[in-house]
Amino acid sequence: MPLIIEQGLLLSELETLASFSEVPPPAVTRIVFSEQDLRARNYLKQLCAAAGLNVREDAIGNTFARWTGGSEEAAAVATGSHIDAIPNAGRYDGTVGVLGGLEAIRALRRAGFQPKRSIELIIFTSEEPTRFGIGCLGSRLLAGSLDASIDVELSDVGGRRLRQVRNEAGFRGDLARLLIPAGHYSGFVELHIEQGPILEREKLSIGVVTAIAAPASLRITIEGEGGHAGGVLMPDRRDALCAAAELILAVESAAKATQAIDTVATTGVCNVFPSAVNSVPSRVQLEVDIRDIDGDRRQCVLEEIRQAATGICNRRGLRHELRIVNADRPGTCDPEVIETIAKACTDLKLSYKQMVSRAYHDSLFMSRVAPTGMVFIPCRAGVSHRPDEYASPDAIADGTRILAETLARLAS
Ligand code: HGY
Ligand code: MN
Ligand code: MN
Repeated sequence: MPLIIEQGLLLSELETLASFSEVPPPAVTRIVFSEQDLRARNYLKQLCAAAGLNVREDAIGNTFARWTGGSEEAAAVATGSHIDAIPNAGRYDGTVGVLGGLEAIRALRRAGFQPKRSIELIIFTSEEPTRFGIGCLGSRLLAGSLDASIDVELSDVGGRRLRQVRNEAGFRGDLARLLIPAGHYSGFVELHIEQGPILEREKLSIGVVTAIAAPASLRITIEGEGGHAGGVLMPDRRDALCAAAELILAVESAAKATQAIDTVATTGVCNVFPSAVNSVPSRVQLEVDIRDIDGDRRQCVLEEIRQAATGICNRRGLRHELRIVNADRPGTCDPEVIETIAKACTDLKLSYKQMVSRAYHDSLFMSRVAPTGMVFIPCRAGVSHRPDEYASPDAIADGTRILAETLARLAS
């Protein structure tokens, strides 16, 4: 079946989607449930409706656009990704999987393909941890990897609870009802930029993902005495920021100590209080991100960091609290879905390799409830989560074409 990917249309839609941002181009900031996020959602719902799909939203704002086909009893095949963007990010992370997924469905409909199963596009809410401190809210709730109590337990930096924010955004209902039953989807495939340098470096068109790294994140609060920068003499200080500085370096060395290339750890947030040049820091809050394709090895790094925090704070006479925000096991992609993607690459004469994903994705949680696979496309120099994130029009079209072929085969 000759599939035509409308590359120009797809790129212009990506351009329009990128315009829904809290910062000027080329950067994109689109925080979940912000005004720009809601505008972007409305835009996408219009595109899905115009494509003849039935659109619905659940209580957390996951959006489902379904092409009903085949018998009612047959479980649907799904694709999708996210549209929220961390501060000062790029325009391709997540959005390529949403608009590429829509274009894949449109290309199949244009080609007259008759699916034996419904095909559904999912736009997951809050894949990024920016607002509520934990990523993949929407896909975790669908997969039962998060308790509905987060509705009142999670709040944003302004202290506004998830329930209040989502209600004001127009999403109501019981989060416990989001869990999708096992077998609800016969397969899930996500198209995404690689967010790493391998495909470009090896001049390959497609990455067929086999496993997804296990993310963990910690919130560490260190409390000292503070005081006047002139009056408190060095021997009497309980400086929270100096302790945090030691701990940040301990995070880095704990990751390096495994000597495994797949172990990474980052202290991405460091909030200092009172943050005045002439005041000894009395409180510091760190947020630490630890990942590894090997879950056990990741746990060892997490324990190293926990011990380092205790040792540093005890030696310096400070109090601290370490909270594990999440510590998920790795995701494994389904061998048949992997094989289907690989075969589509061979048939369409696109070079590919099987590889792991070091970034996490909604696929990490969808793999808990459906046979899951991911299609990666190269991004320039592997850059992501930066305004200069870039995927070429041909790479986006190739990825969309492979996605369409894969969906067709899974829905036949
Ligand atoms: O952090 C991640 O891996 C994803 O981009 N949220
Ligand atoms: Mn991201
Ligand atoms: Mn992403």
